[in-house]
Amino acid sequence: MSEIAKLEALEILDSRGNPTLAVTATLANGVKATAKVPSGASTGKREAVELRDGDKARFGGKGVLKAKSHVEGEIHNVVRGFDANDQRALDKKLCELDGTSNKARLGANAILGVSLAVARASAKDRGLPFYASLGNEGANLIPAPWFNVLNGGSHADSNVDFQEFMISPVGAPRYSEGLRAAAETFHALKAVLHKKGYSTGVGDEGGFAPQLKSNEEPIELILEAIQKAGYKPGKDLVIVLDPATSEFFEDGTYVFEKSDKSRKSPAQMVDFWKILLDRYPEIWALEDGVAEDDRAGWQQLTRTLGDRIQLIGDDNFVTNPNLFRQGIKDGIANAILIKLNQIGTLTETLECIEIARANGYGAVISHRSGETDDTSIADLAVAAGMGQIKTGSTSRGERIAKYNRFLEIERELGTKARYAGTAIYDRWQTSVKA
Ligand code: PGA
Ligand code: ZN
Repeated sequence: MSEIAKLEALEILDSRGNPTLAVTATLANGVKATAKVPSGASTGKREAVELRDGDKARFGGKGVLKAKSHVEGEIHNVVRGFDANDQRALDKKLCELDGTSNKARLGANAILGVSLAVARASAKDRGLPFYASLGNEGANLIPAPWFNVLNGGSHADSNVDFQEFMISPVGAPRYSEGLRAAAETFHALKAVLHKKGYSTGVGDEGGFAPQLKSNEEPIELILEAIQKAGYKPGKDLVIVLDPATSEFFEDGTYVFEKSDKSRKSPAQMVDFWKILLDRYPEIWALEDGVAEDDRAGWQQLTRTLGDRIQLIGDDNFVTNPNLFRQGIKDGIANAILIKLNQIGTLTETLECIEIARANGYGAVISHRSGETDDTSIADLAVAAGMGQIKTGSTSRGERIAKYNRFLEIERELGTKARYAGTAIYDRWQTSVKA
């Protein structure tokens, strides 16, 4: 048994310059590891609570000194002596200690920092790479990433309502080739934007964030960039959208506030996606196509498009096993987005992935818009073996850190490394192409 000896926390900055936590776990044998906690902007209402100090004199109230003191005080006192290799028992203890249903007392940031730091220390202690420690012998599937090359919505100061326009190099023979195709397309997109006189500054997740004429224009620009880079849209690279519709769902209506101020009922929103997919068969997946509180809209979206395309639930499921199980019963979505800090422990995160696998749902591991150089989600994605991740564009260090981590894993796995490619889309690909 490797005992947890010490927990320390540091208030650091995330990629947006907001405070977050770095937690270091030291084991009795001297092994230590650190985890850094991410932070979202377009958060789901039912996410676990990120504890902020609320002291306006520091970081506009966003300090995390309370969460830091919980790690070093209460949590440290209780988990000292715990077996670092028994993640499940540790995470259960952390939830019990917090005592609330949404980790509001100690903070999901404090709890996740501890959960992940101990998991990383355990991997080190056992002499395993993190993905192998989390997964098993068969953890060798490198995901096909979704690169968020054009940012709008709450992640950019532009007139584009939809939050994320992504490309996925599903046609590449291996991960490293896919990464290259994405980076080349990103550069081609820069040239396309430049030629049209658009800004090429980037948003929170490293994608371009220009003022555009419509919510569809990004798709046209991306298709042009893919071709310009020498690839075939819909084959080498496909398009994935996360419009993050909860952000513009007001009193039962979708309001396109940033662009033309038009309004859509839930049924019209579903129609909008159907028409868009007819027009652009290169779109292979749609996340949060309707809002978290629009249950009927979700059911209609799933009934209408669920056999044709991957529909991912983010804000509605918030990586919460109970909400996810209920959603499956309700016939909502056919895939889930997985964000560690939405739920706050590694064990509950892995539980969601298992529920997805057992129910034939896809699972996409995800970063947050506020990130650090922590690369744990890359290892988590390989351990999960579900074949998909989204962790930003091919720019900004905190995004690249994860993509580069997969290069290391690919090299380390050698001939055992597999690339997810189109495999996960087999259910939908033919009907999309028909
Ligand atoms: P967030 O956005 O990290 O700002 O919440 C990501 C998403 O909506 O997928
Ligand atoms: Zn989302």
